[in-house]
Amino acid sequence: MVLDSTFLDTCVWKPDIFKGKVVFVTGGAGTICRVQTEAMVLLGANAAIVGRNKEKTDSVAREIAALRLGAVVVSCANTDVRDVNSIAKAVELTVEKLGRIDYVIAGAAGNFLADFNHLSSNAFSSVVNIDLLGSYNTVKATFNELRKNKGAVLFVSATLHYYGVPFQIHVGAAKAGVDALSNALAVELGPLGIRSNCIAPGPIAGTEGLERLVKNKDECMRKVPLQRMGSTRDIAEATVYLFSPAADYVTGTVHVVDGGSWHIGLLT
Ligand code: HXC
Repeated sequence: MVLDSTFLDTCVWKPDIFKGKVVFVTGGAGTICRVQTEAMVLLGANAAIVGRNKEKTDSVAREIAALRLGAVVVSCANTDVRDVNSIAKAVELTVEKLGRIDYVIAGAAGNFLADFNHLSSNAFSSVVNIDLLGSYNTVKATFNELRKNKGAVLFVSATLHYYGVPFQIHVGAAKAGVDALSNALAVELGPLGIRSNCIAPGPIAGTEGLERLVKNKDECMRKVPLQRMGSTRDIAEATVYLFSPAADYVTGTVHVVDGGSWHIGLLT
């Protein structure tokens, strides 16, 4: 757990801003999406945590539920975003237990460092299938709920495809696709009242991505224009904004939360 009830004392949001709403989160047991969900639950939402690993998904769902009295957090374990039928089952379970889905965080992702010469075609397609096809499948499976509730989608993207980051060909290609998917959905689904945005985290302390990509943290921190690593709370705050009524006219955007890092090509 990263956030606790002190979040409510230190944040700028009203404590019941998401009361009666439900957020469906793929990759919800991972570091970033977990904290995004914690913030939504602390601010009144119920949630569904969608993940492949049963033990991890079940225990994260239990821990998030304990954050707020009365919160209900459903575990949709054994779900693989690469299989649209698998996500459809998770959606069915969520609607059965929580009655609705208003917000979707498409955050399930796979990543490893590999140079082009050693990146097999299967490895490339594994990451594209988790990150990009998985994002598409997530919206496909939740579409009826989103349409019914005039909901909103938030894709977890990245900044590494704005320039060339070595050993990240597969992830860069997948995330560029995620941005394109979000933009097209914003235009096509806007008339239905559905909003679609991306959040693009930069160097966020305590994440697997940062551990793999950055070896010298102090040197990295000095290069970040805002002179610090990001926190998972930074991502959670931006997530709350993008789902809140304050962002009612915001769709088709990529919301970069990186302390200005991509402008200096931090990861090259
Ligand atoms: C080269 C690798 C590899 C590695 C796997 N492969 N790891 N190739 N270097 N380190 C290859 C395998 O050899 C295989 O190709 C192919 O990828 C599929 O591997 P599997 O293990 O069979 O696939 P699967 O079980 O589906 O695993 C998917 C995965 C795995 C993406 C490969 O890493 C995974 O599940 N990760 C989920 C957790 C994770 O990575 N989270 C981090 C998210 S952080 P061959 O040719 O041998 O068959 C993040 C941040 C991004 O996303 C932004 C950064 C800024």
